Amino acid sequence: MIARCIFVDVAHNHTGSCYFSFTGTLMKLTRREFTKASLGAASLTMLCSSGALADAARLMTKTIPSSGEQLPVIGLGTNRYGVGQTETARAPLRAALERFHRLGGSVIDTAPMYRTSESVLGDLIAELGIREDLFLATKADRTDSGAGTMEQMQESMSRLKTDRIDLMQVHNLRGWRHALPAMRDWQQEGRIRYIGITTSRSSQYAEFEQVMRREELDFVQVNYSLEQREAAERILPLAAERGMAVMINRAFGGGRIFDKVGDRPVPYWAEAFGCTSWAQFLLKYAISHPAATLCIPGMTKLRHVDDNFGAARGRLPDAEERMRQEEFFDAL
Ligand SMILES: NC(=O)c1ccc[n+]([C@@H]2O[C@H](COP(=O)([O-])OP(=O)(O)OC[C@H]3O[C@@H](n4cnc5c(N)ncnc54)[C@H](OP(=O)(O)O)[C@@H]3O)[C@@H](O)[C@H]2O)c1
Repeated sequence: MIARCIFVDVAHNHTGSCYFSFTGTLMKLTRREFTKASLGAASLTMLCSSGALADAARLMTKTIPSSGEQLPVIGLGTNRYGVGQTETARAPLRAALERFHRLGGSVIDTAPMYRTSESVLGDLIAELGIREDLFLATKADRTDSGAGTMEQMQESMSRLKTDRIDLMQVHNLRGWRHALPAMRDWQQEGRIRYIGITTSRSSQYAEFEQVMRREELDFVQVNYSLEQREAAERILPLAAERGMAVMINRAFGGGRIFDKVGDRPVPYWAEAFGCTSWAQFLLKYAISHPAATLCIPGMTKLRHVDDNFGAARGRLPDAEERMRQEEFFDAL
């Protein structure tokens, strides 16, 4: 098991915006101080691991505004974890999940809509004995009633083999009017820690914004990538204004962006902010938005977990470097 000792390290603001870099000087802030300071601030998580992976040290984290809790900037998307019971199908996922945990990952996003993903995760997490180290996020999408939402949430808990969900989200806003009050009831009872809403389509942004303005939410989940940047004009600034954490989905456009970049080398200047692969280039772009809290790349392969955790180390691109990334990508 990995023991986590979290220290907050906030250095100078080198761009005039809210980017922070590491100096190695550890400075503890109060929750209130950090919440105020930390949209976009990277912090230092020292993972005191009894295991072999020294690499688990120095993962960047960002802060959930509503609580001050910190999360590693890379989580795990699992819409491809809906496999069957066979060992052949599950072994690669178990290996990916184990590596994710050993590298210091904690946030896992799933949903009842992802076929058997919740059950597969529930089984694998129990086999690995890692529930206590994880931040489990799932979703509800029942359109009938609050009672229906509660029934569905109960089913998710039993499939995930847990009596507490860290984050419960309304999937694609489906049934949000009755789902959010049901989630709030459970939040008050301590069965859910945080609540939020999700989307991955800009056609839903208008309604998404309305719900963000009207409701008190801990999290929003939205698509944002170098290819699809509309969320940065509308959703991300509103999340910052409303004090909501942002979980980014589809930073690789579902994998499509890798086809676009093809076998081109990653530009040499991206090494300055620690990118040695296209995946790191894309992830660091997404999580360096000042309002972004973390990214949840879908990954079923061990080598992808290793690669993507590279984006949680070193530093993030600053505002100028982000612009350069956009110009480079647009010219492809
Ligand atoms: N409305 C919603 O609530 C909503 C909608 C969409 C997605 N989501 C969530 O967001 C997560 C992410 O979305 P997504 O999985 O659709 O898209 P994505 O993260 O943009 O792309 C995932 C694809 O990229 C591949 N990949 C991952 N790391 C890679 C690397 N280092 N190099 C090359 N390829 C790599 C994956 O391959 P392998 O699988 O083979 O590793 C997979 O095919 C989902 O899993 C889900 O949890 C939520």
